[in-house]
Amino acid sequence: MKKIAVRGGRPLRGNVKISGAKNAAAAILPATILAGGKCVIENVPGISDVTYALRILRSLGAKVRPVGKNTLEIDTAPINDFAVTHELTRHMRASYYFIGALLGRFGQARVAMPGGCNLGVRPIDLHEKAFAALGAEVETEENAIISVKAEKLIGKSIYFDVVSVGATANAMLAAVRAEGRTEIENPAKEPHIVDLANFLNAMGANIRGAGTDIIRVDGVSELHGCTWSVVPDQIEAGTYMVAAAATGGDVMIENVTPKHLEAITAKLRESGAEVEEGDDSVRVIGCERPAKCSVKTMPHPGFPTDMQPQMAVLLSIANGTSYITESIFDNRFRYVDQLARMGAVVKVDGKMAVVEGVENLMGAPVQADDLRAGAAMLIAGLVAHGQTEIDRIEFIERGYEDVVEKLRSLGADIRYIHDKDTAILAS
Ligand code: UD1
Repeated sequence: MKKIAVRGGRPLRGNVKISGAKNAAAAILPATILAGGKCVIENVPGISDVTYALRILRSLGAKVRPVGKNTLEIDTAPINDFAVTHELTRHMRASYYFIGALLGRFGQARVAMPGGCNLGVRPIDLHEKAFAALGAEVETEENAIISVKAEKLIGKSIYFDVVSVGATANAMLAAVRAEGRTEIENPAKEPHIVDLANFLNAMGANIRGAGTDIIRVDGVSELHGCTWSVVPDQIEAGTYMVAAAATGGDVMIENVTPKHLEAITAKLRESGAEVEEGDDSVRVIGCERPAKCSVKTMPHPGFPTDMQPQMAVLLSIANGTSYITESIFDNRFRYVDQLARMGAVVKVDGKMAVVEGVENLMGAPVQADDLRAGAAMLIAGLVAHGQTEIDRIEFIERGYEDVVEKLRSLGADIRYIHDKDTAILAS
């Protein structure tokens, strides 16, 4: 069993290069199925969610081969299976994209319910409604397996009453080869939605409007392979931005799209940090002690829910009381119990948290309850006096490539420890 140990109190300084986006790769890798040929995908992050997606592709018959660091060649021509078992989907929320991609190419799929972080109830009814609107028969077998089938998919107008990243992407995957036009109203506008649409267009699809209030997909009869580079990870970048600000550091965060980071930049500036935007970098210079501010999570371009736990750590050492409203997920404050072990004073009432800033956090044994909760624990450990040991780091490895190495290169005192080290530390 591996943990991460951090000794806090050092301001982060230096440059860090951001990897390809987890949530874009999570959609693009299944989308290669639609090509029915070879795709070369560059800037693929080295994270466990990618490993799980590749495992599923291989299980279906695809040939996957690395062709350089962070670059994969994926040949989906040999795919001859349309079923994905629970064993393969249970680690990963984005396994639901295999439904849309298999349906789009073969007119059928049988995929076990997705796993992923426990952030409260995470239904996939909107995905199912989109598939049904396009003419698929959708069945849920024993509450565990989603089975979709269509003789022919036909373009339709789809209106989402809740903005959903996954349902928007899945509707695009199923619609690209449907007959006629599909209009997706009230879609998600996240950078990874735009990246997926651009990737599909590079494969020969005809999608317009991704990133706006309506996406129009004109079905094409065939797609082909292409070369694509995954967009930089907005949330990984935001995590290093907050870590720089919270430690009072000075970090140049490279290989980013500053426009994707505007909501995070605005909140960091409000909390007193300086943020300088370059063409493909942002520099964050922390202040002596962050100022209080209030945060409400919203779909893009609002403040991302995936940055809420990290921001809470910054606010936990701010001067004054801050309010955090979580408006996307029902249960995204589970990390608060862990933060309290480090001396943070946070009261949760339903979807709101009241954060009373304290002067210091203290190192403690904590655990990552989910991916972004784990990122929050890392930042808390970097800020705290003394040593923090973070357990269940497999959650962190789902979404952060080389996180220990990257933080160490910024001057953090951080390392992996194994059970025997833990025993020595305790003795
Ligand atoms: C994606 C991201 C996740 C991020 C989230 C919100 C991936 C792989 N994961 O998750 O990191 O936190 O977007 O930005 O990209 N909903 C329904 N019915 C549905 C689908 C969603 O009611 O069929 C609700 C959800 O419960 C939630 C809201 O819609 O309240 C948004 O969820 P959604 O955008 O779908 O999140 P995910 O795609 O699961």
